[in-house]
Amino acid sequence: MNKLINLVELDEVSRSREVEQVIVGHPTSDGAGVKLTRVLGQSLHRRLDPFLMFDAFGSDSPDDYIAGFPDHPHRGFETVTYLIAGRMRHRDSAGHEGLLQNGGVQWMTAGRGVIHSEMPEQEDGVMEGFQLWLNLPARDKMTPPWYRDIQSQEIPEFVTDQGVKARVIAGVSHEVQGAVQKPVTEPLYLDLHLPAGSRFGQPINLAHNAFIFVYRGAVFINGQTVNAQQMAILANEPNADGVVIEAAIESRALLIAGLPLQEPIVQQGPFVMNTQQEIAQAINDYRSGRLVS
Ligand code: FE2
Repeated sequence: MNKLINLVELDEVSRSREVEQVIVGHPTSDGAGVKLTRVLGQSLHRRLDPFLMFDAFGSDSPDDYIAGFPDHPHRGFETVTYLIAGRMRHRDSAGHEGLLQNGGVQWMTAGRGVIHSEMPEQEDGVMEGFQLWLNLPARDKMTPPWYRDIQSQEIPEFVTDQGVKARVIAGVSHEVQGAVQKPVTEPLYLDLHLPAGSRFGQPINLAHNAFIFVYRGAVFINGQTVNAQQMAILANEPNADGVVIEAAIESRALLIAGLPLQEPIVQQGPFVMNTQQEIAQAINDYRSGRLVS
């Protein structure tokens, strides 16, 4: 499935988006006490529609992750978990079970309701990864749950003439179809490994909201530096047809984009719906055991 292609990168993008804002995540914990950095939270729901949350976690101390995420519910959106080191076992109320490990992705559409657990299957070593929450359009919020484990070798990759390796988790990059294609929000999810002195161009539709999260090294976008553990929101500029990412040192970054839904967003914890009434219904359904029936 791997594919080597040669491209003149800057022919793909004639003008790069600018960095609109650099965000430094804040440390928090979730689940039964897993330490993580929340980079995208509720304050960016409108700006980064259709994305609702982005967490980064990484530690070589088991105390930071061992408690995992025991049974908890979700309704109304999708969770995309990308693990670059470690092993996590997923079990859910729809009968799905899977082992997520090094370089693999779990794509879960909670739809009308899922109760699941995400537990580390290791007692030591490094656990590192990311969880993205992608909203569902109003008409799909009560869709039946869907789940797919995508092992690392199933994620299409290509290497450019600049030596940049791109892993195409979702969407399309340089004519390489990603592991997941979703209608409506049309998510693009790339993991880019950039050698020192390289650059990578990715066309992005003007209407799509986009951000980059750097997890190793540092990159430049139109001369602006984005350091490791920082997120850069990419401006939706009318004249920009994509983004050009440059790396002076060896770097790794996630590039994520999607078409905004432009619908009301009401979140309470693990439920994301369009109205308060729907949230009240979700809580009621969960308490009465009807969330997943
Ligand atoms: Fe979850």
